[in-house]
Parts: sequence; C-alpha cells; structure tokens
Amino acid sequence: MTSPRESVLREFERRTGTKAPLLARAPGRVNLIGDHTDYNDGFVLPMAIDRAVWIALRPRDDGRVTAHSLDFHEDATFDVRELKREHDGWVEYVRGVAWALGLRAGHAAGSLRGWEGVLAGDVPVGAGLSSSAALELATARAFAATSALAWNPTEMARLAQRAENEWVGVNCGIMDQLISAAGVAGHALLIDCRSLDTRAVPLPDEVAVVVLDTATRRGLVDSEYNERRARCEAAARTFGVKALRDVDERMFAERSGSLDDVTRRRARHVVTENARTLAAADALAAGDVRRVGTLMDESHRSLRDDFEVSRPELDTMVEIARAQQGCLGARMTGAGFGGCAVALVARDAAEQFTNEVAKRYEEQVRLTPYIYVCAASAGASLEKV
Ligand code: GLA
Repeated sequence: MTSPRESVLREFERRTGTKAPLLARAPGRVNLIGDHTDYNDGFVLPMAIDRAVWIALRPRDDGRVTAHSLDFHEDATFDVRELKREHDGWVEYVRGVAWALGLRAGHAAGSLRGWEGVLAGDVPVGAGLSSSAALELATARAFAATSALAWNPTEMARLAQRAENEWVGVNCGIMDQLISAAGVAGHALLIDCRSLDTRAVPLPDEVAVVVLDTATRRGLVDSEYNERRARCEAAARTFGVKALRDVDERMFAERSGSLDDVTRRRARHVVTENARTLAAADALAAGDVRRVGTLMDESHRSLRDDFEVSRPELDTMVEIARAQQGCLGARMTGAGFGGCAVALVARDAAEQFTNEVAKRYEEQVRLTPYIYVCAASAGASLEKV
C-alpha cells in the first residue's frame, strides 16, 4: 500500500509538474491513561502514534492557500486575509489554524503567507485517535514554514486548540494538540495540563502498545462531553477550587458529601484518574509494566462506572483483551462513546494477542475490529524534500 507520505508527494508533482519542496507531518495519538482530566487542569499520559497527516507544499508569496485533500477528494482555496467559516469539514481545521496564527500577538493575519499543497493521512477519522489535532498541527507546521514563524510546540498546540475551540467549535482540552506537537519517539509524555510542562517517559522494549478499534463511532459525543465538563466545573466550585486538579483523594473523602450522586461520581473519576496517571508515569519510568497495566484496568472501570463514557462494545473489547495471555492491562481511550481501546501487552505475545482479540471480538460483537501494534513517534515535523 502506498503511504500517505508518498501519495502527497506524488500527487503534488502530478498536479503542479514540480516536486514539492516541503513536507509537513503531524501524528495522531493514543492515550495510555488520564482521560477527561485535561480540561480539569490535570494529568495525561499519551503517546504520538505512527499514523499521521501529511502535507506536501510549496510556499506562496501572497496569503492564498490552495489545498487538495486526497482523503476527501476535495479542493479548498481561501485567503488568510479574508477568513470566513464556510464548511463543516476538514477545510475549517485548516482555516481555523490560519485564523489562530493570525491572532497571535505581533503577528497580524496579513503577514501570514499561504501555500499550495496536497494533504493525506492514515489516522482513522472519528476513531478517537485525534485525526483533527494531527490535521491542525500539520497545518500549523505548513504555515510556520511559509511564514518564518519559530516552531514552539507548546505555543503551537495552544493555538491549534484555540482553532478547535473557537473556530471549529469543539470544546476540547489541550491533550491531543500538545502530544501531536511535542511527542517523543519511543516515549509516552506525562503532561501537566495546567503548567503544560511535559516529561518524556521511555516505553520499555518488552511491551507493545496495541490500539483496539471497536469499529463503533461516537454519536452525541459533543453534547455528552460538554455536559461532563460542566459537571466537573460545578464540582470544582463546590470544593472552592479553580479546577478538580486541586482536589486530592483525602479532600474528596472529607468534602464530597454535599455533591449530588452523579456529580460526586464524575468528580471521583477525575480525582482518582489524576492519581493513577501520576502513578502510571512513575511505574513506567521504573519499568514496572505490571503496575501500569493494573492502573489502566482501574482507569477503565472508573471511566465506565463513575464517568460513564464507555459503551458495551468498548467494555467487551477490554474484557476480551484482558483475558488474553500477555495482556498487562486495557482500557478505553480518549473521549469515549465509541472508537478505540488501548492495551499494554508483552511484546513477545503481541502477535498472538492481536489475532485472538480480533477473532473473539468479531464472534461476540459481529463487527470487524481494527487492531494494531503502534510505535511511539515524534511530534509534528517539517522536512525539506
Ligand atoms: C478528547 C479531547 C481531549 C480530552 C479527551 C478525553 O480527545 O479532545 O482534550 O479531553 O477527549 O481525555
């Protein structure tokens, strides 16, 4: 199969008659542990995966962008000086990033330079592996290259998040954009979502990270997501703190009595998930992969029972995964309501694991899952071709 990298380079040449001088790339991600904690100023432990969005491009002297998406078979043309929302699809992520970069202090939209480019990716859309963050960061890399902007991963992640929040209108936290911008090959990244400090934690060679796509897609995710956020914010107000990050397990035990049952369970998930995520990063750093697996199992239970963002297919996938030899732990990953789970598996058992889980899931659920071992890759990059 042709890789998206080759496809965009080839298509650029076919369309323009010249080779693309630049190639921007940004990866999707899988989160090992720490879900629904980022918008509570908490901790997450994702890794960038070896699937990405690629843009082959040539800078322009003016503010025009002419882009072709190989995945959506669609062209888009706009001018960074006259940005208007027009569509719902991929183009709005590209336009939104141009808007956010243009708003950046000291960088008026007029000084952004455009580009001609071809885009493609192999991060499945809607699976919970952050194809939109990958598109945003690849776009940011493209504009940074054409407009001579310094590449600061944290700052670019913030701008991409702003594009998604305010231009696209999805109220996400910072995790997806930051890991796509700042991922480190061979490592997971512990992110403090308040300070945005990161700590790269090496993944031991003896384990494989396996993505388990249930082949279900999330419906209603935006409204459910916003509802969870609102509850967490209400709980923080009751505790008298800025965010649930400021509540530890002891404070929760002492002072959660005044919360209604649902809000209390939502808050308990966030408080315990933050503790688990910090513990998992330490355990991973110490090479204690069994402990990491146990924490992942506990995380799934908490997301399922307290935060209530799992669904039956995700639960079944996780149960099947855990029953296999060599599986250290498994959990749903990302926002939930569909999409992917993730498992930590002894590397020498990984092949047997993927075959067995795929077979059993298909038998039980009657959907064909998509299961693969993924490698932790580097964050967004720019290549001179
Ligand atoms: C989505 C959001 C992230 C994060 C996760 C849940 O992926 O984009 O910001 O909140 O859900 O952990």
